[in-house]
Amino acid sequence: MTATATRYARVAQSNELRDGELMPVEIDGTALVLVRHRGDFFAVQNNCSHKDFPLSEAGFDPRDEVLVCAWHGGCFDVRTGAAVVLPATEAVETFPVRVSADGWVEIGLAGSLARDR
Ligand code: FES
Repeated sequence: MTATATRYARVAQSNELRDGELMPVEIDGTALVLVRHRGDFFAVQNNCSHKDFPLSEAGFDPRDEVLVCAWHGGCFDVRTGAAVVLPATEAVETFPVRVSADGWVEIGLAGSLARDR
């Protein structure tokens, strides 16, 4: 059996976000938040693992590279999704991101986004 390559969905132009900005995006009904940090992009599920608050309304701490949930202050590593500050204890899902030569930010249809198409 051969492995299939990850497919990507275009969600925004890279210049639509400045460093530290968050953008909610949706792919096939799945809500994600796109984060730009030091020119790189990260994609994370858009619901806090504590009580489902939308992380697109979170703050972003660029020093610690964490999303800070606006409801109870739980924090998530933007690179790995790991919960690093209580009351959050469960990780949030992260997705691969790449930028195309013509400036499109593309999110990999991996994990819960990987479906037969
Ligand atoms: S809903 Fe995010 S920390 Fe509680």
